[in-house]
Amino acid sequence: MSNRFARHVLLTGANRGLGLEWVRQLADRVEHLFATCRRPDDAQELGRLADAHPETVTVFPLDVVEPEAITAAVERVEEKTGALDLLINNAGINGGGTSDRFGTVDADTMTQVLRVNTVGPHLMTQAFADVLQTGGEGAVVVNITSQLGSISRTSGGGWHSYKASKAALNMCTRLQAAELEDGGVIVVAMHPGWVRTDMGGSNARLSTEKICVGHDRVHRWAYTGR
Ligand SMILES: NC(=O)c1ccc[n+]([C@@H]2O[C@H](COP(=O)([O-])OP(=O)(O)OC[C@H]3O[C@@H](n4cnc5c(N)ncnc54)[C@H](OP(=O)(O)O)[C@@H]3O)[C@@H](O)[C@H]2O)c1
Repeated sequence: MSNRFARHVLLTGANRGLGLEWVRQLADRVEHLFATCRRPDDAQELGRLADAHPETVTVFPLDVVEPEAITAAVERVEEKTGALDLLINNAGINGGGTSDRFGTVDADTMTQVLRVNTVGPHLMTQAFADVLQTGGEGAVVVNITSQLGSISRTSGGGWHSYKASKAALNMCTRLQAAELEDGGVIVVAMHPGWVRTDMGGSNARLSTEKICVGHDRVHRWAYTGR
C-alpha cells in the first residue's frame, strides 16, 4: 500500500470539526475519499478541498438519520469504487452538553442524540457491510466514540443523552465486530481526545491538526485492536 492510508474511504460529518480535518489530511493519502455531510451546498471549505482534489474527493449529501440517504450513499460507492476499505462514522451531536442533566432531560433531545450518535452509525455499518467485505481482508470501520460513554466514568454533570448514546455506540461496535469478523472486517471505537471544535469548545486541549496528524495511529490501532 506504499504510503497510502487506505484506498477507498467514506467519512460522515465531513464539513466541519474533526471530519473536515480528516478530509484535509486524507485527500492526498487515499485513492478515493467519499466526504459526506448533510448540506454540501453550505460546506464551503469542504467544497474548496474537493475542488483542489477533483480525482480523489467526492462530496455528496448524507444525513445519518435518513435510511434512504444511507441507501443512496451505498449505491454511489458501489458505482464509483465498488468497495470500501475504511468507513469512519464521525458525525455526532451533543444534545445540550452540560445543560442536559438529570431533572431536565428532554425526551425529544435524548431520542435525537441516540438517533444521530448510535442508530446512524449502526445503520451505516449494516448498510455498508457488503461493500466493506468486497475489498477482502483488512477493511476497517471506525466508530468515533467518546470517553464520556465509558460506563465507569459517570462523574461530572450533564451530557446525559450524549453519554448514553456513546455507551450504546460502544456496544454496537462490539456487535458489528462480531457480525463482520468472518468477512475480514475490523470494527473499532475510537475516542479522539478532547479537541477544539464546535462540540469540544475552545478550552479543549487538542487542536484538530494535532489529533488528526496521527491518523496512521488509527490504522495501527485498528489492526492491533482486533
Ligand atoms: N471534539 C471533541 O472533543 C470530541 C471528543 C470526543 C468525541 N468526539 C466525537 O467526534 C465526532 C466529531 O465531533 P466534532 O468535535 O468534530 O463535532 P462538531 O464540530 O460539532 O461536528 C459535528 C459534525 O457532525 C455532523 N452531523 C451532525 N448531525 C448529523 C447527521 N444527522 N448526519 C450527518 N452529519 C451530522 C455535523 O454536520 P452539520 O454541520 O450539518 O451539523 C458536523 O459535520 C463526534 O462523533 C463527537 O461525538 C468529539
